[in-house]
This record gives sequence, structure tokens and C-alpha cells, in this order.
Amino acid sequence: MNIIRVKNYEEMSLRAAELLLKRLKDPETDVIGLATGGTPKGMYRELIRLSRENNVSFKNVHTVNLDEYVGLAHDDPNSYHTYMARYLFDHIDIPKENTHLPDGTAKDLERECARYEEMIKELREINVQLLGIGENGHIGFNEPGTPFHSRTQVIALAPSTREANARYFNSMDDVPTHAITMGIDTIMDSLEIVLLASGTNKAEALRALVDGDDVTEEVPATVLKNHPNLTVIADDDALSKVTSL
Ligand code: PGA
Repeated sequence: MNIIRVKNYEEMSLRAAELLLKRLKDPETDVIGLATGGTPKGMYRELIRLSRENNVSFKNVHTVNLDEYVGLAHDDPNSYHTYMARYLFDHIDIPKENTHLPDGTAKDLERECARYEEMIKELREINVQLLGIGENGHIGFNEPGTPFHSRTQVIALAPSTREANARYFNSMDDVPTHAITMGIDTIMDSLEIVLLASGTNKAEALRALVDGDDVTEEVPATVLKNHPNLTVIADDDALSKVTSL
């Protein structure tokens, strides 16, 4: 595990964007895995700026997102389709058909999960997958207790996850109860993983990942200890409970 310790959110965002830009300059990189949430917004902003300054094109790249809420229309302000358009896709030259997210409005959700998994397989492999981390250690929306050997699936959101995301919705009742998420094996198949974390609310999850002895389904992110090419970019606050560095 390679850990890049940074001062704050801004530095995390810049370092992550620089790393991603470097990968995008490599013609071997044709599939990047993307994440949503509060954490990567700054990174997307920096990536848009750096890709313009460096004339880096997304024309030949496919993106695959980790997850999407079940039941939100694509144009719902809180859908991850809307998020990705707003924070990245509308500002770069990627063809729309190269951007992939699970369809949380599908009538047959199981079939949609199988389709998404098959689509990733057809792209061959994810060169670099970006991840955030939940306060409870979730990755994607794989909540504590999710089997490590899981592929794209429908998941019931943990109460703490719904509470953490309630800030974006009018009321708690509006927060979706389910999501489609890449499974843990799907994520682990990526050739490289870059995990971003900022803030003291992530400190316990980071402690379990970096200092903890256990690889346990109770803290899904601990599975990343077994990944051969993991980079963690985290700020002082997120690393405040890590003593081994
Ligand atoms: P956040 O979410 O970036 O909004 O903190 C991260 C996650 O839940 O994976």
C-alpha cells in the first residue's frame, strides 16, 4: 500500500488529479473507474483544469462508475448520472456513449447488474479505479457485511450511509434505500486503485485500513490490504488515528 499524506482537502484533490492525468497520458489507459460523493469533487475540478492545460483528451477513454441509487431518474438532481455530468462529463471531450453508470431505474435490477458486469468485462479491465471510503468503511456502496466475493449487485444502504447522504436531500424520507454497486471482487479486479479520504469522520475507517490487523467483511475497505497496487491519498485529519506512519 502506497500512502500519500497531504495537508488538506485541496492538496488531496490536486495530487489525485495529477496522478489521474499521468495515467490518462498513457495510451494503455483506456478504462477509468470513477466515484461520486463529496470527496472527489475537488479532484474533478482539478482534473478538468489540468487536462485543458495539458491538452489531454478523453476521446478514447471509457469511464465506469461505481454505483447509482435505485429509483432516482437519471435527471434527478441527486442521481449520480446528474453528478457526473455536472462535475466532469459536461466539461471534457468524452463521448457520452463512453460513460457508463448502473441504471437505477431499470425494471429488472438483477438483469441490470448482470448487464453492467458484462459491460465491464467487454471493456476488458479497469486500468485505474478511484474510490472514496464510507465512515463505516464501505467502498462503492458495499456496506459492512457484504461478502468479499461479490460482483455488481443491489444493496440496501446502511442507516449511517443514508444519514451521511441526507444532506443532499430535502428530507430523510427522500434518501433512497437501495443502490446498485460494483461488487467487491469487481473493484478488486481493477489493475490499480486510488483511494481518497479527507476529514476526521474518515479517521476510524482509515485506521482500520492502514493500521488494523484484520481483513474483515465488517469493514469492507480492509479487503484493499490484499490489492497489489493501491495508493491512498489522505489528509492529516483522515490519518489522525493512524499511528504507524
Ligand atoms: P463522501 O462519500 O465522499 O461523500 O464522504 C464517500 C463514500 O461514501 O464512499
